[in-house]
Amino acid sequence: MAGFSLEESAPKILGVSIAVIAAIYVIYPPGLLLIPLSLFIFAYTTKNEKCSSTDVETFFSGFKIGGHRGAPKSFPENSMAGFAQAKADGADLIEFDVALTKDGKAVLMHDDDLDRTTDMTGPIRNKTRAELDRCNISATFIRTAPGDQSRLAAVVRERVPDMEDVVRWAVENNTRMLFDVKDSDNELVDQISNLFSKYNLYDKAIVCSFFPWVVYRIKRGDQKILTGLTWRLKFWSYHDIENIRPRYFGFKQMLFEIIDVAHVWLLKRVTPWYLGADLLLTNNLDISQALILDQKRRGMRVAVWTVNDMAEMHWMLKTLHIPILTDYPELTKQAAHLEELQKIDYMPMHKSHSDL
Ligand SMILES: *[C@@H]1O[C@H](CO)[C@@H](O)[C@H](O)[C@H]1NC(C)=O
Ligand SMILES: *[C@@H]1O[C@H](CO)[C@@H](O)[C@H](O)[C@H]1NC(C)=O
Ligand SMILES: *[C@@H]1O[C@H](CO)[C@@H](O)[C@H](O)[C@H]1NC(C)=O
Repeated sequence: MAGFSLEESAPKILGVSIAVIAAIYVIYPPGLLLIPLSLFIFAYTTKNEKCSSTDVETFFSGFKIGGHRGAPKSFPENSMAGFAQAKADGADLIEFDVALTKDGKAVLMHDDDLDRTTDMTGPIRNKTRAELDRCNISATFIRTAPGDQSRLAAVVRERVPDMEDVVRWAVENNTRMLFDVKDSDNELVDQISNLFSKYNLYDKAIVCSFFPWVVYRIKRGDQKILTGLTWRLKFWSYHDIENIRPRYFGFKQMLFEIIDVAHVWLLKRVTPWYLGADLLLTNNLDISQALILDQKRRGMRVAVWTVNDMAEMHWMLKTLHIPILTDYPELTKQAAHLEELQKIDYMPMHKSHSDL
């Protein structure tokens, strides 16, 4: 299943690299100059191309607000009802997570197992599409949408959606798509590529991943597919976005924190160029005006996940002018007019009540 595991391979790659460099140093020290030269040639001959600027323009001109896994406070995440609600609430893009079943069907599911989001348990890779049909993705869902609930339909039983059904729905309903992909399984990559050509998704959808090799594989198959790199500051060394729960301990933790520093440095310089990515999908805690300007200079777009605070939405949409992914698409219309709402709030401070 999982193609390349950084966790397993990093110590080996590091060990082999150190051994090779030491050997060259011992045998013929000037030979060390060949290392940067060969890296440079390797990078140039294996790099991906960027997408056509027309497709990039078209895609981003229609993407301001993305429903993160649909409208996950109103309907179950990654459900058809959730995507329809996101659109009704003003999202122009839906974000979803793709996974493969045991019999190789691409479906939508965020976790590796069914435990959190359904009434069944175990890894999704152990279930066939037919077995998945028996689970209810509404079973563990609790609605926490703010505001007027009467506008929302009742939550009913839903099946795990097929990736293709969601793509067809989004194309028919003129909604952009963001595929979140976690593994570089050839089967999954091929199915995504096939959907891009079958439904001509080149200016309608983007494929994003935390894992640079997934982005690389996707673009290797079809250089026209728009791609984005998802990141947060300490992804490789901490489980959580607040960077509180380390993934490892001791020396290994230190090694992965160093990998994180290197990853972020490369991400802002080399990685998107090499991968041919067009978007940096940034965590809301790590966003800054400086980052956006820097990325713009490098020909990259920036979008941000997951923005759930109205003042923050307003800042992203109206000041930074970048698209957002949110769990609350229903709040974005108000957020866009926050300055007017505030004006109304402040009026009594400046005017007498008789003026109102
Ligand atoms: C999506 O498109 C289908 C087919 O055109 C239509 O029946 C459906 O009402 C649309 N849904 C939304 C939420 O716009
Ligand atoms: C999933 O399947 C694998 C082999 O196909 C098996 O080793 C494993 O125990 C299964 N896991 C569960 C939780 O059923
Ligand atoms: C699925 O879950 C929903 C929400 O809890 C519930 O209303 C419905 O009865 C369940 N359906 C089945 C067939 O289990």
